[in-house]
Parts: sequence; C-alpha cells; structure tokens
Amino acid sequence: MAKILITGAAGFIGYNLWEKLCIEHTVMGIDNLTDFSNPQMKLQRLSNFFSQQIQKEDSVEVTAEKGVFITADILDRVKLQSLFSLHTFDVVIHLAALTGIRPSIQHEEQYRKVNEQGFKNVVEIAEQHGVKKIIYASSSSVYGSCSDYPFTEGSDTNHPLNPYASTKKNNELFAEDFTQQHNITMIGLRFFTVYGPWTRPDMATFNFIRKVLNNEEITVFQHQQQSMVRDFTYVEDVCEAIARLVQQLCSAKQKSLGHSIYNIGGGEPVDIATYVAEIGKQTGRTVQVKKQQGGEGEMIKTFANCNKLFQHISFKPKVSIEEGLQKTIEWYNFAIKHDARK
Ligand SMILES: NC(=O)c1ccc[n+]([C@@H]2O[C@H](COP(=O)([O-])OP(=O)(O)OC[C@H]3O[C@@H](n4cnc5c(N)ncnc54)[C@H](O)[C@@H]3O)[C@@H](O)[C@H]2O)c1
Repeated sequence: MAKILITGAAGFIGYNLWEKLCIEHTVMGIDNLTDFSNPQMKLQRLSNFFSQQIQKEDSVEVTAEKGVFITADILDRVKLQSLFSLHTFDVVIHLAALTGIRPSIQHEEQYRKVNEQGFKNVVEIAEQHGVKKIIYASSSSVYGSCSDYPFTEGSDTNHPLNPYASTKKNNELFAEDFTQQHNITMIGLRFFTVYGPWTRPDMATFNFIRKVLNNEEITVFQHQQQSMVRDFTYVEDVCEAIARLVQQLCSAKQKSLGHSIYNIGGGEPVDIATYVAEIGKQTGRTVQVKKQQGGEGEMIKTFANCNKLFQHISFKPKVSIEEGLQKTIEWYNFAIKHDARK
C-alpha cells in the first residue's frame, strides 16, 4: 500500500483515478476547485466521497473512508510546503491544470501560470520533501501539427497549435531537465481525448450527448473539408494504466528511472461525425449534424501508438467506443437526475 497525492483530484480524471487507487492505497487529493471551469461538477464528484458539504469558497480538509481532501492552490507555495511537511507521499500524481484548448487562446497568461508555474511548484516542493516518484499529465496536444500517424513518443512535438499544448510541452522539457539534476523518477502521460462517466461538461462528449438527447443540432468542425478525427480513450483504461504504473514504481523501491513519456490512447481513432452517430444509435435518436469550417487551434487528427506503454506495463486500453459511450450515456442519464450538469 502506497501513500499517494493526487493534484486536480476533483477533476474528471483525478476523481475517477482516486476512486480506483483508494481501493489499494492511501489517497490524499488536493484541488483549488477553481470556478474557471465546471465548479458545480467538481463539488458533485466530491460529494460522492464526502458527506460533509464542501463549498468552493471554503478552505477545507475533509476525511472519509476514501481518503483526505484538502482545498489547495498549486500556485500557493506556502500551502504546498506545509502540505509536504505534514505528509509523506510515496507517489505524487499531478493532474491539476487549466484544461480546454479554446479558452487557452483567450487566457494564455492564466494557463501559463497554473500549468507551468504550478507544475514547477508541485515538482520542486515534492522533491525537496523527499518524493522520488512523480507521474504527471501531459497531452496528445503536444503533437500539434505533426502528421506522422500514429504518433509515437518520438514524433515531432515542436509545433504546438495553442497555448495549452505549449504549456504541456514545456512541462515535459522541465521534467527532462529536472530528473537529470535530481535523482528522481518522473513519468509524463500523453492522454488522448479522455471520456467517460463524470466527464467535464465543457468537453465534446458531454455536449454531444446533451444535444443528441435534446434533439439539438450538433456542429462538427472541419479543416479544409477534412473531418476531425480523435483517438478517444475511456477513462477506466487511463486509470488502469496509471494504477499499474504506480504498482510498478512502488516495487522499484528507491531506484530512479529518470524521465519517461508514454502515450495513452484508445487505439481506435474515429471521425467526430461517426462518434456522434454512435451516440445517436445508442440513444435511439436522430442526429442532426452541421459541418462547418472552424476549430481554431485544434488538431485535425490524433492517433496514438501505445506500444511503448504496452512494453512497459503489459497493458493496452481495451474499452471500445461502443462500450465506453454506452457507460457514459448511462452515467449521463443518472447525472441528469442528480443534477450534475451545472
Ligand atoms: N481529459 C482529457 O481528455 C485530457 C487530455 C489530455 C490531457 N489531460 C490532462 O489531464 C489532467 C486532468 O484533466 P481533466 O480532464 O481531469 O481536467 P479537469 O479540468 O476536470 O481537472 C483539472 C483539475 O485541476 C484543478 N485546478 C486547476 N487549477 C488549479 C490550481 N491552481 N490549483 C489546484 N487545482 C487546480 C481544477 O479545479 C480541476 O478540478 C490535466 O492536466 C489535463 O491537462 C486531459
């Protein structure tokens, strides 16, 4: 059993990961519950773990069977120092970030602060307090304008298309340098469009399901007549991969493995119109799709080669789009009843 800190624990992936890891490990989660995106959904997720009602304005520390949650901002170095002084962690999983591509174009400075300075704060302060193993969230967006499909970890990442992508690329560069200077292990995971229960309301999957169920028209963006294609990854697969990495890191004792990067993609890239049609099929609704030129700052296609991850932990994402969407729609119908969509 390891003691694990998850940053961004009230977020989509953080919450799902917490639920999985707390079965075998002691988990502490931090998040600043920023109202920059989906504040109500974060509180709703936490309310599944903690009976005490958490308000986003509060500075709270709550404990329950699943672990401890603390409101903390990764830009607050003093708070982080005190957290790491009071608690010893075997592994830190850093997921906290400002997410979403389009808002990063309008709020570049804020993204750089949280995603780059916040990342450095967590990594530096963790290391100063003896943490030797850090897993962090990178993104498929680092591949930017690369068209070398499927992307391998060695594909070109020098041409990000938006500020969000460039913050993720800068994290990878920082981690590369940091692990060379300090005797620690860092693993960067390039997630490819994660979807599933408790997904973010600002993400396409949530909006597509909402619109299909409300019989609303869906706009699908195209670049120069080309449909966008995404390598959707079911959240349970992402969490399983991280759980295996944690297990492996914990069995590696004190040996530093340096810095490694892995793709985590579903391996079944589909164009967006096909994805939307599958939602229509599963909900028994007629889908109205309008194709439009647009998608500023977005990649045309993402497609992951996950062989490196498979070689490392003998795991390949296995949930099909059909099965993943079925579970996500089931959750969505539950979430409407429990008003999780605010
Ligand atoms: N979901 C995806 O498809 C996807 C794809 C690629 C990469 N990622 C990365 O994975 C990680 C998790 O993504 P997610 O989809 O769960 O996003 P999310 O927005 O649901 O979760 C991020 C969490 O970080 C928290 N946060 C933001 N600023 C903070 C700060 N200053 N201090 C403390 N907490 C802060 C937010 O409140 C939020 O709960 C992110 O780093 C994201 O960039 C996600």
